[in-house]
Amino acid sequence: MIETTLDIATLRKDFPILERKVYGYPLVYLDNAATSQTPQAVIDSIVDYYSSYNANIHRGVHALSQEATDAYEQVRKKLKRHFNAGKDHEIIFTSGTTHSINLVASGFASILNKDDEILVSAMEHHSNIVPWQMLCEKTGAKLRVIPMDESGDLLMDKYEQLLHERTKLVFCNHVSNALGTINPIEEIINKAHAVGAAVLIDGAQAAAHIVADVQALDVDFYTASAHKMCGPTGIGMLYGKEEWLRRLPPYQGGGEMIAEVSFEKTTYADLPHKFEAGTPNICGAIAFGAALDYMNNIGFEAIAQYEEELLNYATAQLLQIEGLRIYGTARHKTSVISFNVGEMHPYDIGTILDKMGIAVRTGHHCAQPIMDFYQIPGTIRASFSFYNTMEEVDMLAAGIKKAVAMLS
Ligand code: ALA
Repeated sequence: MIETTLDIATLRKDFPILERKVYGYPLVYLDNAATSQTPQAVIDSIVDYYSSYNANIHRGVHALSQEATDAYEQVRKKLKRHFNAGKDHEIIFTSGTTHSINLVASGFASILNKDDEILVSAMEHHSNIVPWQMLCEKTGAKLRVIPMDESGDLLMDKYEQLLHERTKLVFCNHVSNALGTINPIEEIINKAHAVGAAVLIDGAQAAAHIVADVQALDVDFYTASAHKMCGPTGIGMLYGKEEWLRRLPPYQGGGEMIAEVSFEKTTYADLPHKFEAGTPNICGAIAFGAALDYMNNIGFEAIAQYEEELLNYATAQLLQIEGLRIYGTARHKTSVISFNVGEMHPYDIGTILDKMGIAVRTGHHCAQPIMDFYQIPGTIRASFSFYNTMEEVDMLAAGIKKAVAMLS
């Protein structure tokens, strides 16, 4: 039963791309966990920037530079309010979550030593595994893994057993991109803090569905990417507690991040500029702000409620297909369904769906350890957003049945 208060038909009109056809079929876009679509208001903010006040920021005395600087810094304030950070300068603009994580990992190279341990969950995206492996190679620290069960829930008792005084850092995604699991981050953070470890939560997949309150969570670092939340690609943010951001060394050297430079010595700019070397993605940041406004105008609670209805309906529809298995059946999930049908290769089903205008992701979803856990090469992943409809779920189910018939 549809209970949403959202007017989905009207909301869909905000997204020009949803009007297009693919191979003669109406586009059914179900790859939102990879990249969400962009509403006209965000597209307009990009056109407006380049049409009216394109200039470099923090550098010029001229009007355009001032306007661009103000617009860019306003978004930092918006992000601060949205995630309830304590201070503007605890928000660092990055190119996205991968950049945010690498910034932190690189900084910890000067803090960790070979006796230290870092913990990462079994359901991480490669971007929350590889930077820490690189950090371990540099420092000699050990990487340990918090295991998960078949349903895609973390084994919290095993997590507790892994924590001890040598654990210096814990990394976990708020929501798994491949399974949709919403992890119990509050508990993860509290338990890590009890042994003195810092925590980074990868919010890339959560931020479009859940508003994290970084102060209430007491998290040390939190990340987000605009392209998962109706914004453009190439822009994201790192929230860091001030004490940590002061302690970590700069990630990149260059313009904007300095106080004084001479050939003998360079001193660094204060936060947040210390971590924003070079000309940043000014337009991207401004469009990120427009995306945040757009989503907040709809309301995250209403979005989450409707996406849950989509998830429940889609799960029921897909489970009616013979041989279909869903990977990721955690108690708390966002609107992501990863599945396979019998022994059929996910790529084959995904390719046939594409020919019907249905966009899904196939493969390991940048989370190969999860695929190894289930001993599968990959899955088909349908990920839903608030602009998807129940009719599109029906089209997906019909498309899968047709693909299965063709491949049988
Ligand atoms: N991390 C993105 C995904 O899950 C690209 O598809």
